[in-house]
Amino acid sequence: MEVDKKDEREAESSEQVVNPWEVSAKDGGKIDYDKLIDKFGCQRLDESLIDRVQRLTSRQPHVFLRRGVFFAHRDFNEILDAYEKGDKFYLYTGRGPSSEALHLGHLIPFMFTKYLQEAFKVPLVIQLTDDEKCMWKNLSVEESQRLARENAKDIIACGFDVTKTFIFSDFDYVGGAFYKNMVRVAKCVTLNKAMGIFGFSGEDHIGKLSFPPVQAVPSFPSSFPHLFPGKDNLRCLIPCAIDQDPYFRMTRDVAPRLGYSKPALIESSFFPALQGENGKMSASDPNSAIYVTDTAKDIKNKINRYAFSGGQDSVEKHRELGANLEVDIPVKYLSFFLEDDSELEHIKKEYGEGRMLTGEVKKRLTEVLTEMVERHRRARAAVTDEMVDAFMAVRPLPSMFE
Ligand code: TRP
Repeated sequence: MEVDKKDEREAESSEQVVNPWEVSAKDGGKIDYDKLIDKFGCQRLDESLIDRVQRLTSRQPHVFLRRGVFFAHRDFNEILDAYEKGDKFYLYTGRGPSSEALHLGHLIPFMFTKYLQEAFKVPLVIQLTDDEKCMWKNLSVEESQRLARENAKDIIACGFDVTKTFIFSDFDYVGGAFYKNMVRVAKCVTLNKAMGIFGFSGEDHIGKLSFPPVQAVPSFPSSFPHLFPGKDNLRCLIPCAIDQDPYFRMTRDVAPRLGYSKPALIESSFFPALQGENGKMSASDPNSAIYVTDTAKDIKNKINRYAFSGGQDSVEKHRELGANLEVDIPVKYLSFFLEDDSELEHIKKEYGEGRMLTGEVKKRLTEVLTEMVERHRRARAAVTDEMVDAFMAVRPLPSMFE
């Protein structure tokens, strides 16, 4: 019996695994995003949708849309159809506060959500799942709550509008209408179903089994009576990394049975580790990622020492063959964070054809990331406890659609 189980697990590990707790590619290669779209049953975010976003918002779509960082969706077209007719929606995203220091990958959904909030002029709820991390990461209740508040400062530093944004910690906010929706959801999901979607097993504690409804119900406006009274039909759009999809597959499955609209999703790929796209960004290896707390010197060192290069071993060979841009991390990172499309194209051409060397590309990346991290540091230092309280206060948002 034991042996069978082990074999099964080993057979699984040669396949790609993407769920809220584990992301690993097949045989140490790259994540196959096309396969993921098929397996999850979401839709690809194509050019025509991005053009529509441009038309409806009268501004250039975010870099993350132009460059395919957000690449998949569920019913985003319906959100745009409704918006075109004058119907607004609200945004929902979140963070599991498992550590004090955020790395650049953690900022991506928040940078993108801020853009969506500004471009569409819509309200936003941000869930801090301190309960989730307490149960999964062996943190105490108190430590999880402390981390939630610390992370809230980093989130606020991304520039959200306090008149349109409600940030809440599960430990503080769950109850009332929110809890009623949780129970309604829980009654619709059998143990078998939860085991299928989330891979729970008989050895998991029952706290884990009870969690999915907590992440599901911010998708329903009636969970926030102080924000959306009488607006039970307001649609919800969730920007998230694609590993969160299982929660919202479950949510979308039960929504019609409760008489609620399904939330729409817009989903991103993962931000790669410095060591390359098959490497994992791991919290236990500080050299696999750039943190928002890194100094200019840390950033320079990490990029020079660890960023996986697609350049050739010798200058002569590099001049002859050029860099392999497919595997090159400096170019990949620049495609996330260098705003200027023409500069990026220039770098790709010159580097790909061997006229530019890895050192020069790394230097430009160091400049871009140092500036970004400095900006974040300044913004975070300006976030006071009063500001955190203001974002987290249970209150109406009078100008949320203006
Ligand atoms: N489970 C997510 C995490 O561990 C946090 C989260 C809660 C979330 N609600 C969300 C993420 C909605 C994206 C969208 O980070």
